[in-house]
Amino acid sequence: MKILGISNTKDSGACLIIDGKLVAAVNEERFNREKLTREFPENSIKWILKEFKLKKNNIDALAFGAWKGIETGFFPEYINEVLTKAKSNTTRKYIQSRFYGSSNSDKISLERLKQGLKKMGLDKIPFYFCSHHIAHAYTAFSFSQMNNALVITLDGRGDFQSGSVSVWKRGKEPIVLRLESELDSLGAFYGWITKFLGFTPDRHEGKVTGLAARGNPKICLHIFKKIFHTKNGRISAEIGDYFAPYMKAKLPKLEKILKKYSKEDIAAAAQKIVEDVVINYTKYYLKKTNQSNLAVSGGIFANVLLNMHLKELKGVKNFFVFPHMGDGGISVGAAAYVSELHGKIVKPIKDVYLGPNFSENECKKAILKSKMNYSKSKKFYKEIAEYLDNGKIVGLFQGKMEFGPRALGNRSVLARTTDKNITKILNKRLSRTEFMPFAPITLEKFARENYKNWNKNSLTSYYMTSCYHCSKELKKKSPGVVHIDNTARPQIITKKNNPVVSKILNEYYKISGTPSLVNTSFNLHEEPIVLTPEHALTLLKKEGIDVLAIPPYIVTKKKRMT
Ligand SMILES: [Fe+2]
Repeated sequence: MKILGISNTKDSGACLIIDGKLVAAVNEERFNREKLTREFPENSIKWILKEFKLKKNNIDALAFGAWKGIETGFFPEYINEVLTKAKSNTTRKYIQSRFYGSSNSDKISLERLKQGLKKMGLDKIPFYFCSHHIAHAYTAFSFSQMNNALVITLDGRGDFQSGSVSVWKRGKEPIVLRLESELDSLGAFYGWITKFLGFTPDRHEGKVTGLAARGNPKICLHIFKKIFHTKNGRISAEIGDYFAPYMKAKLPKLEKILKKYSKEDIAAAAQKIVEDVVINYTKYYLKKTNQSNLAVSGGIFANVLLNMHLKELKGVKNFFVFPHMGDGGISVGAAAYVSELHGKIVKPIKDVYLGPNFSENECKKAILKSKMNYSKSKKFYKEIAEYLDNGKIVGLFQGKMEFGPRALGNRSVLARTTDKNITKILNKRLSRTEFMPFAPITLEKFARENYKNWNKNSLTSYYMTSCYHCSKELKKKSPGVVHIDNTARPQIITKKNNPVVSKILNEYYKISGTPSLVNTSFNLHEEPIVLTPEHALTLLKKEGIDVLAIPPYIVTKKKRMT
């Protein structure tokens, strides 16, 4: 059975599940080069159909992970929420804005989806809508290695909800324990803070997390404690002068108060309140369900510091964050739902290398066209390691593109970790403004001595979805990747999960005695990660990188003489 998952929420995209196996997934931004695009994923669908030599009538079902609207079962709960909260004019105004905002934008998006399907001639294929948070939950559990788990999803909003709690057993229908309304949205709160601190909401939340480590959470935590509470397994937000459930809300009273504090202290307190709420909430359900496996998804879990605390919670044995936890991953969750609806149990993922690949020939053609200097070296890995040891910034372009926000070695920029100032250097070269150091990749055999409490079951460490406390060893050898709070967000590399990166790291270790390198996404600031060899070569031209590694070729900027 072939299911095409399609999403046109923020970061639209498409995926293909064949008989329960996720075989392809990609986001439209990589094709149309508009970061987090909401456009109908026409290019993504075309690529999938071409890659798998499929005609439209070979697709058995279409799956969508949004625009289902308020479900009948949830409707009384939603109304109850509104009636309980709407006690003042201010509160009513904010609730109305949220409701009309959601309804209108969802209606427009649904219409755009219908038009896109019609245009591509896909509108005759049977289709299914999966409620947004259930789709997030499917990503968290179905693709994990777990056979049973507590699943929590939290985000800004989707289908009038901002969270869900459910219990899962492989092969069985999930039992939903709780749905949070969009009025109690932690994602909206964190997005609002992101905007207040001068960044772009829905995009730069990671900068707030990075900034948080530099502040004192105690200074203004009392303000945010007035907004969010958790009690008896529910998240509750006080809508009013201090909070409105959407990112662009005007909150003059709160703004006036916050202006007295530093950006760092505000970020630290915002991070702390989110951590406190989610941790309490999770603890409640871990106890209630007697579960030791925890799987999470939704935009809130892009927060790598929060994930570190969840991973370390007493009673959590296994912890999984779906690597594409935001709305960009929702096509996959919806397709998983439809697959299981038809009796095809979804298989866990082994990696997220699910996007387009380019042949050696295609890469060579692009290199020749660029007129850059290149060589085909038998000692490819050693040469790349030498460049890195000499302080060069290397772009690595190989294999199938990663699905999700993190570059995991196939569309990555690598650099040495030994430079204390590597964050500054890379920020300048790649026109970025990161507060958190760039993340390290480390050979698996050295993971235990570099990251505290790491073990082979640390699933988040293979996808860069959680921070780890660092050891003295990492701080000594790789100061450039350790944050001010002594954490790092590693990707652990094995011969199996990424043979090319593993070989580069091994060669680099032989030369330098350091088993780690910096790994950041292959893009300039605000641009989507590179898709094609041509995109990669452009970054070399713009001097974002010094060397481009496209196995078996090594390309440098100097123009060829012939
Ligand atoms: Fe979402």
